[in-house]
This record gives sequence, C-alpha cells and structure tokens, in this order.
Amino acid sequence: MQNILVTGGAGFIGSNFIKYILKNYNYKIFNYDKLTYAGNLENLTDIEDNANYKFIKGDICELENVKKVLTDNNIDTIINFAAESHVDRSILGSREFIVTNVLGTQTLLDIFKDLKLEKYLQVSTDEVYGSLPEDRKELKFTEQNPIKTNSPYSASKASADLLCNSYFHTHKLPILITRCSNNYGPYQFPEKLIPLMIAKALDGEKLPVYGDGKNVRDWLYVDDHCSAICEVLHKGKIGEVYNIGGNNEWYNIDIVKLILKTLKKSEEQILYVKDRPGHDRRYAIDSSKIQNELGWKPAYDFEHGIESTIKWYIENESWWRKVMSGEYLKYYEKNYASKVK
Ligand SMILES: NC(=O)c1ccc[n+]([C@@H]2O[C@H](COP(=O)([O-])OP(=O)(O)OC[C@H]3O[C@@H](n4cnc5c(N)ncnc54)[C@H](O)[C@@H]3O)[C@@H](O)[C@H]2O)c1
Repeated sequence: MQNILVTGGAGFIGSNFIKYILKNYNYKIFNYDKLTYAGNLENLTDIEDNANYKFIKGDICELENVKKVLTDNNIDTIINFAAESHVDRSILGSREFIVTNVLGTQTLLDIFKDLKLEKYLQVSTDEVYGSLPEDRKELKFTEQNPIKTNSPYSASKASADLLCNSYFHTHKLPILITRCSNNYGPYQFPEKLIPLMIAKALDGEKLPVYGDGKNVRDWLYVDDHCSAICEVLHKGKIGEVYNIGGNNEWYNIDIVKLILKTLKKSEEQILYVKDRPGHDRRYAIDSSKIQNELGWKPAYDFEHGIESTIKWYIENESWWRKVMSGEYLKYYEKNYASKVK
C-alpha cells in the first residue's frame, strides 16, 4: 500500500483523517472530493503544500474520471468517506443520498474490481443498525445486529454496505467496512449538533433541541475514529465489519447543557422544538471486536475531547462564520481553480 485515494476528504472526518494519516504514516494521499456544500478546502490549509498530498476535484459517481485519477496516480487503495451525511437533509430530499451514497459506492466498487486494486475501505455508520430502547442499557449494537434503517440517510449507507459485502462475496475483493458512532471535533459543519450549539450559544441565540432532548448518542472524538480506520486498514480481516465507538452515551440535552455551562451561558437559551420525524431514540456501539482483535482503543476521554473541541470553535470563529455565511465556497475558486491543470 503506497498511494491512497481518500474520497470526501474535504469534509469533517475526511479532512481530519488526511491530517492524521499524513502525520502518522508515509503514504501519498489523493483527496478526491466533489466539494458539495459540506466540502471545505479551508479544513486542509495547513497541509495543502505537503509533498505527500494532492487535491483533485471530482464526483465519485463519474466512472471515467475516477478511473483516470486512479490509473494516472498509481493508486492502490480506496477509502470512501464521500457521502451526503446529514439526516435532516435526507428527510427533506433523499435523491442525492441515493446517488452519492449508493450509486457512488457502486461506481467505486466496479472500478476497484476492474483495476484489481489492493484494498477498499468503506466508512459507514452505526445508524445502519436502527435504534435501541432507552431502558435497556445492556443492549448495544454488535456487528451481528441486523441492518434496520429508519432514515433515508441510514438506508443509503446500509445499501452501500450491502453492496460492499456483495462485492466481497461474489468477486472475492479485499473489502473492509467500519461502522462508527457519532463523531465530534474540529472542522465539523455547523449544521451538526455540537458545532451548531456552540455557534448559537456564542451568538446568544436560542439553541433548538429536538423533542424532549432525551435521544441518546454515543460520542467519539474524530481522531479516535481516524486511528481506528488506520487499524482496520492495516490489520482488519478482509470481508469483515468493525464497529467503532467510545462507550460514551449522552442525552442530546445533556450535551447542550454541558456546552452552555462550559461557555458560561444560561440554560434559558434552550428552545425545545418539534421532534425530527422518525428520530432514532438511542445508539450505542459495542466496539469489543476492534478492541480485542486489533488492539484499538480510544485515546481521548470525553471530558477533555469536548473541552478542547469547544476551545477550538472559540479560537476558530472565523472558520465557522465563513461556513455559515457561505464565504468558504469561494476558497476553491480563489486558491485552487487557477492551479488545476
Ligand atoms: N459525522 C459522523 O458522526 C459520522 C459517523 C459515522 C460515519 N460517518 C460517515 O463518515 C463519512 C464522512 O462523514 P462527515 O461527517 O465527514 O461528512 P461531511 O458531510 O462533513 O463530508 C462529506 C464529504 O463528501 C464530499 N462528497 C459528497 N458527495 C460527493 C461525491 N458525489 N463525490 C465526491 N465527494 C463527495 C463532500 O464534498 C464532503 O467533503 C460519511 O460517509 C459518513 O456517513 C460519519
């Protein structure tokens, strides 16, 4: 393994992953991203001149384009982060989710098969397992749990997982799947819970909380997700699924209160709003397989992870202000478009 195509590398987890892998390994990384509203090259300014890094603008659904990028750059490995990733948006309209998450994955798999590359890793989510009851704390998602999707987003991610599995079985391809719980950390698009609440709290606005706020999510610091993906990439058993999680369940409302407390803001800023349709009640991941078989464990505890994340959003206010105003969309034109051959 030498040359890796990271799709969706301008998004939240992809950009953190590229920095993580460049820092810890000696691979050449090709970041292939369509730059949808969620792709932001400003996430990568500190490494954009790294000799082991190259950005290529493109869509994973464009077969000929992806094929050319792979062959021109001698790429042997694909890690697929590219996706439409926001559940709320999938409720408003699911087409883009099916196109990118399902057809895009199928396109990558076909090319992977044709070019006989070395390894393919699909970055998936715990949301494919559906929802757990709130009062059965002993229940967590294991890799054996059936797929039971409730949102168009999770249905599209599950479809992609099933395709990966089918290409492994039918075509005997070296494919791996990871399913991670909710991530938090720097550079997360401020439509997602933690950065949205931090931004609203800092601006003295109301913090909208769905329903009774008692939905439970299992939070993991983004760098821990990145280290887990590297472990699976290097040591994972081909054809297997690996759950990744921090054993760190929180009610949404408690996360919101913690953010307000850390920022010394009043809980009066909380505004309960009508629940999201089909809102899954509880996610909790059993990550004993990756811990026992691959020796991975999270390095960050939540107390420090959330504290440093809140500090990051305070110190990088201009980053999220540019995202919220849409100004970040000009970055590619300003800094890249003229350099692209
Ligand atoms: N955020 C989480 O908590 C979480 C948890 C588990 C798994 N995941 C999965 O991890 C991956 C990354 O999540 P994220 O939160 O960083 O998402 P994100 O929305 O921040 O980033 C997605 C990236 O994919 C790019 N993209 C979208 N469509 C594309 C296409 N057709 N071709 C090429 N690039 C395209 C976007 O431009 C963006 O840069 C996704 O597959 C998601 O399902 C996310």
